[in-house]
Amino acid sequence: MLTRPIPASQEPLPVIGLGTWQTFDVANAAAQPALRQTLETLRAAGATVIDSSPMYGRAEEAVGTLTAALPAPEAYFYATKVWTQGRQEGIAQLEASLRKLRRPRLDLLQIHNLVDWQTHLATLREWQQAGRVRYLGLTHYTDQMHLDLERVLRRERVEFVQFNYSIFERHAEQRLLPAAAELGVATLINRPFGEGRLLQRLRGQPLPAWAAALGITSWPQFLLKFLLSHPAVTCVIPGTSNPAHLADNLRAAEGELPDAATRERMAAYVRGL
Ligand SMILES: NC(=O)c1ccc[n+]([C@@H]2O[C@H](COP(=O)([O-])OP(=O)(O)OC[C@H]3O[C@@H](n4cnc5c(N)ncnc54)[C@H](OP(=O)(O)O)[C@@H]3O)[C@@H](O)[C@H]2O)c1
Repeated sequence: MLTRPIPASQEPLPVIGLGTWQTFDVANAAAQPALRQTLETLRAAGATVIDSSPMYGRAEEAVGTLTAALPAPEAYFYATKVWTQGRQEGIAQLEASLRKLRRPRLDLLQIHNLVDWQTHLATLREWQQAGRVRYLGLTHYTDQMHLDLERVLRRERVEFVQFNYSIFERHAEQRLLPAAAELGVATLINRPFGEGRLLQRLRGQPLPAWAAALGITSWPQFLLKFLLSHPAVTCVIPGTSNPAHLADNLRAAEGELPDAATRERMAAYVRGL
């Protein structure tokens, strides 16, 4: 599995991870073999990152229940978020995330959609000092908030920023990705398939013949390779609860990545369909 270094620590991070919004929001996760297989598929490929949030219903609980039953739950990189107003509410939510994920500490805690970020950043810094979380981050999912993310990144030291970026939504290339590179902040890319809509739009369309030279055999791989070939992208976190879909996504981390000219060719090709 291809890795990229987290700039703050140089720890290598596998470039494809797993999102859990909607896909892991299920009751009785232990009775869902596809979810367990999805998590096993992630590890078997050498990938680790699982992204969740208290906003994703029962997703944290599902991840915690299933990983606890696997041979090496500590092998995953657990990322979740705080998404509430107020210091005490934030602390209670963070404690609940640790319980639900069944972890003594987390790898990454992010401030979801920048909600009450000053308040939570103070708490998260205390947690980081106390060794309850390794890295801190900020997240959003719309182009309109990229400038706000950048402003906070320029003011406050955090190790990660998560935001939306796809071949059809390239706003992040203008300022946020260059800012993250300049400041040495790792990036997690959400909504790489536009919540699945981009794949629906491309379904039935032919891949260009020249994509084979990059080892691309599917549209998910095409969209993910485009993202991974941006030098400021650290890890992309497509959401899925289908192990075959995840296996397809993970193949984007194999073989060659497109160069700058090929990226533009890829974007022009999908625009022309
Ligand atoms: N959406 C947001 O607003 C948001 C905001 C902040 C953070 N995030 C984080 O970012 C993650 C990724 O974003 P997202 O889940 O919203 O959208 P996404 O990754 O762009 O798309 C997810 C959808 O794509 C489908 N999919 C995934 N791989 C596929 C494949 N190989 N072939 C066919 N279909 C495939 C999934 O369905 P199947 O389950 O059928 O595979 C799912 O419906 C989230 O899960 C979450 O952790 C999301």
